[in-house]
Parts: sequence; structure tokens; C-alpha cells
Amino acid sequence: MEEKRKIMSIFGTRPEAIKLCPLIEELRQREGILCRVCVTGQHREMLDQVLGVFDLRPDYDLAIMREGQDLFDITTAVLTGLRPILMEERPDLVLVHGDTTTAFAAALACFYLKIPVGHVEAGLRTYDLRSPFPEEWNRQALTKLAVHHFAPTERARENLLREGVPSERILVTGNTGLDALRKTVREGYTHPELEWARGSRLLLLTLHRRESVGAPMARIFRALRRILSEFEDVKILYSMHPNPAIRSLAWKLLGSWERVHLIDPPNVLDFHNLMANCDWILTDSGGIQEEAPSLHKPVLVLRESTERPEGLEAGCTRLVGTGEESVYRGVRELLENPALFYAMSHSPNPFGDGDASRRIADYLNK
Ligand code: UD1
Ligand code: UDP
Repeated sequence: MEEKRKIMSIFGTRPEAIKLCPLIEELRQREGILCRVCVTGQHREMLDQVLGVFDLRPDYDLAIMREGQDLFDITTAVLTGLRPILMEERPDLVLVHGDTTTAFAAALACFYLKIPVGHVEAGLRTYDLRSPFPEEWNRQALTKLAVHHFAPTERARENLLREGVPSERILVTGNTGLDALRKTVREGYTHPELEWARGSRLLLLTLHRRESVGAPMARIFRALRRILSEFEDVKILYSMHPNPAIRSLAWKLLGSWERVHLIDPPNVLDFHNLMANCDWILTDSGGIQEEAPSLHKPVLVLRESTERPEGLEAGCTRLVGTGEESVYRGVRELLENPALFYAMSHSPNPFGDGDASRRIADYLNK
């Protein structure tokens, strides 16, 4: 009997989990593949929420999260935590996702042990190592460390080719995040926050990038206060990242507004349905830029640059920066311009078709 190929998926944060769970479900259906799952626990509650929705029980959990963890803490805990597991399991291939420090450190551990790595969501670039920080470094380093590169878009493939990755090592797949929407979004969804927002224009907000914590976030919150005072029909639902530095600023600058609800992050099922039922979205998230066009929701990106220019070109996302004036003007324009709103809501999704996991599983099962 032919031996199965042992593939271990390693991840640690919410977005990696959302984008790898559909792929793991797909891999589990392949006869020739033996699946192992190791989570680092770089995130705790936000990771466990996703594992719950996908009903996935990992084989290993490094449980590394500490309040106030820095990049040294995460990198060293992942490296030393993975060493005995990888030495014991000796997978034929390890899959990592995207650009987190979990993904980078896991791939480095594999490199030290000569275990091949497949990189899901490969080839995204800003070519500015300061933004997003440290993700741009992580993803460039991952390209050096990986053997298989699963690029979500043609542009990502071109980036990889330009950097010297052989074309036979690249597969263009679409983004696996869109596969997750098939499982989560449902007709007739209700939520108390949607009841609260009935009759208003509901803007859904998330913010978490390291380079924006502090002054840039304060500028964004001030811009939103100006919007709230000028547009009485606007309500903001803010899913607050658990990072204490972000929360204290959000409470200070937005906490007293009745038309702002500051909430703990809803799990992915609720969040996708809130996205589907809001009017539009303000975010610095990567994954949300990809998902929103499938739900026909415009996104204003609260960042200076994006590694996902496909959304800007397709017309479904717009970059509004992190300056008080630029954010204020960007939000105001979308509120006042129904033609712009219509065009942004009706652009095709350039990030994939919801079938990426099947393509990757087919490739790995060959
Ligand atoms: C990480 C990733 C980022 C990704 C983001 C998704 C790195 C360097 N950054 O950033 O690329 O976009 O996740 O959200 O890998 N916390 C909790 N509970 C949780 C999660 C976080 O309390 O479930 C708090 C902890 O205090 C933790 C802090 O948030 O110290 C920051 O978490 P961390 O994973 O270090 O960074 P993120 O900003 O979440
Ligand atoms: N998300 C979620 N609950 C929330 C906010 C976001 O489930 O309260 C989902 C979102 O739909 C997307 C992913 O988390 O699938 C994005 O993760 P995040 O913004 O934390 O990270 P990024 O994509 O920027 O790395």
C-alpha cells in the first residue's frame, strides 16, 4: 500500500485560521494525504473562535500568547516550541499562510530541519518594509524559505516571478479566505447590532495594524468624530481588536458617542454576516479587503499603502490613508456620492472565486 503524504498546517492567528481551515477541510478529503494541524496560539480567543466555527481540533497547541508580547517573544516561542514537534512528526510538507510572525518563524524552523514548506497566499507585496510592519518582511522572507508558492492572483504570481521564483513552483489559486464565506454567510441572518442600526447607515470598523497604533489611530478616530457630528444618520459598529493599547484609545476617543458601538470581535460567522448586512466598511485589515467585494460592500482602507492593489484597480476598495483630513474627506465623499457607492458595490471580486482550497488540495494530492 502506498504511504500517505504527511502535511502539517501550522498557524496561530485569526486570519491564518480563517484562510487555512477551508483548505484543511479539503485536504482531509484526499485519500493520499495525512493531515496534521499545529497551532502556535499567537492569538488565543480570536484563534479559538475560528477553530470553534470550523469545528477543528488541532493535534498540537503551543499556547504562546502573552499580553504585551513583542516580535522577539513570538519568534522565539514559535521556533523553540516547534522544534520537538517537527523533529518527532517529520512531515513531508508544512503549510503556512500569509505574513504573520507565526508563519515566518514556522517556515524558519522548517528550514533549519530541512522540511519543505508550502506558502499559501504568496506574492503579496508593498515593497515597503515599514508598512505593513513586520508583515512585509515576513512575506518576503517566506518566499525565500518556501518550495511551493500558492499565489492568490496573477499579480502576486508576477511579483514572485520577478523575484526569481521558478514558474513551475507557483500555482495561481484565488484566495482561500473567499472559500470560508461559503460556509459562513447565510440568508435571513439577524443580530442585535443590526436591529440597533436599523434606519441608519451602518459603517463597520476594524483597526489593528502595528504601525497605526498610537497617533495614526487617534487621527482616524478624530476624523470619524467629525463625520458623526455632521451625518446624524450614520452609526459605527467597531469590532475592537483585544490589544489593550488599541482599546484604551478607542474608548477614550469614541466611547462617549451613542451612535458608536464598541464591541468584542464577533466570531467569523457573525462577522461575515455583519459585513454582508452593513452599508460599508472602514478597515486596515488585509482579509476584509478581499472578502468585502464578494458581499458587494465598499471598503475604505485606513492605510498608507496596500499589498492588495487589485481591489483599488477593480474599484471595490479605496485607500484613504491615516491622516485626519484624508480619512474625513474619503468617508464624506462616499456618504455624499451615491454613484460612487453604487460603483464600489458592484465591482467584480478580483481576489478569487471561492474555489482556491480545492485547487491547492488537487495540486498537493498529485
Ligand atoms: C497579528 C499579526 C498581523 C495580523 C493580525 C491579525 C504579526 C506580527 N502580526 O497582529 O499580521 O494582521 O495578527 O489580527 O504576526 N490579543 C488577545 N487575544 C487574542 C489576540 C490578541 O488578547 O486572541 C492581544 C494580546 O494582548 C496580544 C496583542 O493582542 O499581545 C497583540 O497580538 P499579536 O498577535 O502580537 O499582534 P496582532 O496585532 O494581533
Ligand atoms: N474577522 C472576524 N471578526 C472580527 C474582525 C475580522 O472574524 O471581528 C475576520 C475577517 O472577516 C477576516 C479576518 O478576520 O476573515 C481578518 O483578520 P484581521 O483583520 O485580524 O487580519 P489581517 O487580514 O489584516 O491579517
